[in-house]
Amino acid sequence: MLPKNRKKPIYEGKAKSLYEGPEPGTLIQHFKDDATAFNNAKKGTITGKGVINNRISEFLFTRLGDIGIPTHFIKNLNMREQLVRHLEIIPLEVVVRNIAAGSLSKRVGVPDGTILLSPIIEFYYKDDKLGDPLVNEDHIINFGWASAEELDILRSLAQRINDFLSGLFIGSKLKLVDFKMEFGRYTMEEQGIMQIMLADEISPDTCRLWDYDTNEKMDKDRFRQNLGGEAEAYQEVAKRLGLIINPNEAK
Ligand code: TMP
Repeated sequence: MLPKNRKKPIYEGKAKSLYEGPEPGTLIQHFKDDATAFNNAKKGTITGKGVINNRISEFLFTRLGDIGIPTHFIKNLNMREQLVRHLEIIPLEVVVRNIAAGSLSKRVGVPDGTILLSPIIEFYYKDDKLGDPLVNEDHIINFGWASAEELDILRSLAQRINDFLSGLFIGSKLKLVDFKMEFGRYTMEEQGIMQIMLADEISPDTCRLWDYDTNEKMDKDRFRQNLGGEAEAYQEVAKRLGLIINPNEAK
């Protein structure tokens, strides 16, 4: 299934690897079954996760593209890989929250499950050595991670993506509690234009998804909190989105 004699990845992440693509300006994004939590302190694998996340992320990026959100996604290549544009990644994790959970609940003492008056957008500086600290817009502009104009674009894209995905997940009986996005700059040399695009992935690894009726966790929190049943939860999310994945291929 996977191409042989593949060169070494140009980037080896915790859950994904990136390889040089077939044409300049492209990359191959490979989804692994490896899972980590708490900045690599907890390690494991979730069988079939790479296959499911590849499919879910392809589906969500395609739907977002359909409503005019620029994304790095070009096409699906195989069960674990997709062809994407090579972006200059902005070193920020952009988190949108609709319901309090996770680090927000801990930081400000708000009970898990509290519905927020309006979505909260947070920025974290991507640096594993520092544990991806929460930063504000003054930090981001001062340290040159993104300009004020880029931050406006990030906020507006984050809001549009959250509105669209929240509705899409409700249609699948899932609540989008919160999620993380990454963005990058894509330069079209000939036109001399730079565009900000959605990068990375959106999947149960990077979202909190709760069952609409029971609030059962259907995402990576099952792994983080040792709840078990994570592979089944990921499959169930794919199924509810109408994505049929042959269970034998997800092994
Ligand atoms: P948090 O509550 O731990 O800050 O997480 C907020 C959201 O971001 C949640 O949906 C999980 C996601 N997330 C990642 O995708 N990667 C990470 O490294 C972290 C810390 C969170």
